[in-house]
Amino acid sequence: MRGPAAFSLFSLLLLPYESSAVKLKIQRTPKTDVLSNGVRPSKATADTNNNLINKENERYTANITISGRVVNVALDTGSTDLWVMPPEGLPTFNDTLLNATLRYGDGSDFVTGDIGVGKFELGEYSIPFQAFLNVEEAARAEQPDFDSGIFGLWGLGFNTPGSSGVNDAVQGAFGPTANWGQSVLANIFAANPTGADYIGISLSRTGDQEGTADASLTIAEYDSDYQTVQNSPKILQNPPDSGAWTVTLDALSVGGKKINWPSTMTEAPEGKNIVHLDTGTTNILMPAAQLNAIYSSIPGAVLSPDSNIPQTKFSTTDDVWVVPCNATPAVVATFGGQDFPIHPLDVTDMVILTSPNGRRNYTVCIGAFTDVGNIVDGASDALFGDSFMRNAYTVFDFGTGGNTKGRAFVQMLSQTDATKSDSDLVSVRTQAMTDLPPEIAPIDLVKIFNGTEASGNGAGLSFAPSTSFVGVASVLAFLSFF
Ligand SMILES: *[C@@H]1O[C@H](CO)[C@@H](O)[C@H](O)[C@H]1NC(C)=O
Ligand SMILES: *[C@@H]1O[C@H](CO)[C@@H](O)[C@H](O)[C@H]1NC(C)=O
Ligand SMILES: *[C@@H]1O[C@H](CO)[C@@H](O)[C@H](O)[C@H]1NC(C)=O
Ligand SMILES: *[C@@H]1O[C@H](CO)[C@@H](O)[C@H](O)[C@H]1NC(C)=O
Ligand SMILES: *[C@@H]1O[C@H](CO)[C@@H](O)[C@H](O)[C@H]1NC(C)=O
Repeated sequence: MRGPAAFSLFSLLLLPYESSAVKLKIQRTPKTDVLSNGVRPSKATADTNNNLINKENERYTANITISGRVVNVALDTGSTDLWVMPPEGLPTFNDTLLNATLRYGDGSDFVTGDIGVGKFELGEYSIPFQAFLNVEEAARAEQPDFDSGIFGLWGLGFNTPGSSGVNDAVQGAFGPTANWGQSVLANIFAANPTGADYIGISLSRTGDQEGTADASLTIAEYDSDYQTVQNSPKILQNPPDSGAWTVTLDALSVGGKKINWPSTMTEAPEGKNIVHLDTGTTNILMPAAQLNAIYSSIPGAVLSPDSNIPQTKFSTTDDVWVVPCNATPAVVATFGGQDFPIHPLDVTDMVILTSPNGRRNYTVCIGAFTDVGNIVDGASDALFGDSFMRNAYTVFDFGTGGNTKGRAFVQMLSQTDATKSDSDLVSVRTQAMTDLPPEIAPIDLVKIFNGTEASGNGAGLSFAPSTSFVGVASVLAFLSFF
C-alpha cells in the first residue's frame, strides 16, 4: 500500500486491442549514493531486461503516458488507483467533475482532485479511456517523491469494491457498467479475455556486487530470466478476497532461529503470520517486538529508543537500532515452504551523521526494518516492501482469467544467494568506508547522540536536540517515505 498504506499508491468504452504481453524497457538511474564511491555499479546497465527505473532502492517507477503526457509513476502493489500530478499538468482530458481523495498509510498521506478520463499508454498497451485521479492537492508526505521526479502512483492491486476510490466513485455516478473506472491492469486484462491475469515483478538492488536481479515489470508473461517461477509453489492470497496482496508467511528467522511472532489475524494458520507484499513500501514494517528480536541478535547492536538519530526509513516510532556496519544477520522469510534469504544489505542502511555539537562526522549503520505501529490495523501482520521484494522474483496472479482462474496467488523465485551475500556486504561496505568518516562502536555512538558523552575534542557535552545528515543525498531525500 502505498504506505503507510504504502507509501504503497490506486468507457466510455474499452476498445479491444491486439495485446501481446508488454515488457517495459527499463533502466537504472545513475547511482548517487554513498556506495558509488569506488564501488562498481551492479550489472545491468546493458541489460534490456531492466525496464523499471530504480530510484535509489527507495522507489521503483515507470514512465507511463496518460492523456498525452509522459509521467514517471511509482509502482504500487499495495493500492489500485492511478493518480498523476505532473508539474506541467495534462494537455487535455475529459474531466468527470467527480472529486476523490485517496489516502495512504495511516491516512494522513493523501492526494485529492478530480477524476479524469484519458488515454493510457505503456509499451505496446494502450487503453483509450482510462480513469485516473488528476491530483490538485497532495499531502506533504508526497514531496520527497516529487523532488525525485516521481509525479504519480500506479496501483497494481485489486479491482474489488472498496479497493479503488476511483472505481467506486465512477460506478457510483455512472453505474456498474462504467468499466472505464476500473484499474489499469483490469482494463489491460479485459482486452485479452482468454489470457491469464498476472504480472511479474523483479526489483533490482543498487550497491550490491551480485548483479543477479534486474528491475522489470511484465504483464501476462514472465520475465525471460525467471521463467522457472512457474514451478514455484502457489502461495494463495490469505485472507481470500482481502482485496490486497496478503499471503501467509510460514516463518521469519534470524540466524536459523524462528522468531516468535503471534499473529493478530484469525486467518493466519497456527504459528504463522499474514504479510502484505507491497512494492509501494520501501522497507519492511513489522511489530517492534519482532524487529527487536532480529536486531538484538546482532553482536554489538544497540537500540536507541526515542532517538535523536534519524531513521532512514519511515517508522511510526523514533526508535533506532545502531548496528556494526559489517554485520551480516542471516534473516530468512519462508513462504510456501520455500526459504527466501534477505540480503544483509537490505537489513541495514549506511548513513553519515554529524555529531550534535557539529564537530565530528561518523559513518553509521542503522536497522532498515521499522515499527509498523497500527498502520496495518488488522489487515495483515506486516508490510513486506522493497527490502523484502528485492530478494524474490514475484508473480502476482489475480485469479481472474485464463486457466489459473480461481483464488488469487503469488509465486516467488529466490534471488539472493545466502552463500555469497555476506561477503558481498563486507566488500561493498569495506570499499565504501575507505572514503568515509570513521565508524565507532554503536554503544558509543548512541551515547554521543543521547547527550551523555562528549563527541570529541574535549569540547564538553552537547545537548543539541537535532541531528544533521550529511553526505548521503539518497537517504536525505527519502527520509519521510516508505
Ligand atoms: C523516463 O522519462 C525521463 C524524463 O523524460 C527520461 O529522462 C528517462 O530516460 C525515461 N526513462 C525511461 C526508462 O523511459
Ligand atoms: C472525451 O470523451 C469523448 C466522448 O466519449 C471522446 O470522444 C473524446 O475523445 C474524449 N477526449 C479525451 C481527451 O479523452
Ligand atoms: C469538487 O471540488 C470542487 C472544489 O472544492 C467543487 O467546486 C466541486 O463542486 C466539487 N465537485 C463535486 C462533484 O463534488
Ligand atoms: C562533515 O561532512 C560534511 C559534508 O561532507 C562536511 O561539510 C563537514 O565539514 C564535515 N564535518 C567534519 C567535522 O568533518
Ligand atoms: C538513550 O536515551 C534514551 C532516552 O533517554 C534511553 O532510554 C536509552 O536507554 C539511552 N540509551 C543509551 C544506550 O544510553
